[in-house]
Amino acid sequence: MKKILRNLLEKFLLTRGLTLTSIKHKNFFNLKALTIPGWFTSAECESLYKTTMLTNGPILEIGHFLGRSTACICEALYDSKKNRRFNSYDLGFTSAEEFKKFYDQVHKRDVKVPQLFEQVYAENMTSTAMAMKNLQSLGLEGFVNLISGDFIELDREKYDFIFCDAMHDVHEIKLNLPHIISHSNNHCIWAFHDMRDENIDAVLRLSNSKLIDRAHSLGTFIHLG
Ligand SMILES: C[S@@+](CC[C@H](N)C(=O)[O-])C[C@H]1O[C@@H](n2cnc3c(N)ncnc32)[C@H](O)[C@@H]1O
Repeated sequence: MKKILRNLLEKFLLTRGLTLTSIKHKNFFNLKALTIPGWFTSAECESLYKTTMLTNGPILEIGHFLGRSTACICEALYDSKKNRRFNSYDLGFTSAEEFKKFYDQVHKRDVKVPQLFEQVYAENMTSTAMAMKNLQSLGLEGFVNLISGDFIELDREKYDFIFCDAMHDVHEIKLNLPHIISHSNNHCIWAFHDMRDENIDAVLRLSNSKLIDRAHSLGTFIHLG
């Protein structure tokens, strides 16, 4: 009886993009990344840490912002003692106007500038400079090559693991996914944030890939060439 109720609850929560683990979740790995501000949940941080642990080869991150997700990857690089190339990009906006001009076009609607971004611009800094400071405070800056700018314009490499935090809706997926594919080696592992059901469907429709895991809204896929 208990099992049936649990199954029903799990199915209901899934329709809302939640899981039972999201209620119970404890920070099992004690990740330092969680001290950096950002939207990644503790379960998503752990999933990113574990996927980094389980993969090999060069890593690309699209969207480090203040470095919370970056720190998860760096901690796994430190713990696994694997020497891997890790390039991480973030758009170098310095004002809310630049942010809005870019994202209104991407999402094809009126986008509100989130408060955390306003704080970066108020301090006259780029997100990359702030991410560098945050990673330095955790002793993790040596594991990543932080780059301020658009990966589509600047990057020319191929990767075996790509984390992208710029897949918020179908418009943004259509913009970024073709470039992610062109930077992917065969069997590249992709971890994409904000994977609601409709976004997962879009990724599967627009690429030859398979969904292999989901922790809250962090979807993990394998690219099948
Ligand atoms: C939701 S934030 C990232 C949050 C971060 N991963 C964390 O753990 O807190 C998304 C970021 O993606 C960056 N971004 C979007 N498109 C990009 C692109 N083409 N190249 C580089 N960065 C991009 C934006 O500048 C933005 O800061």
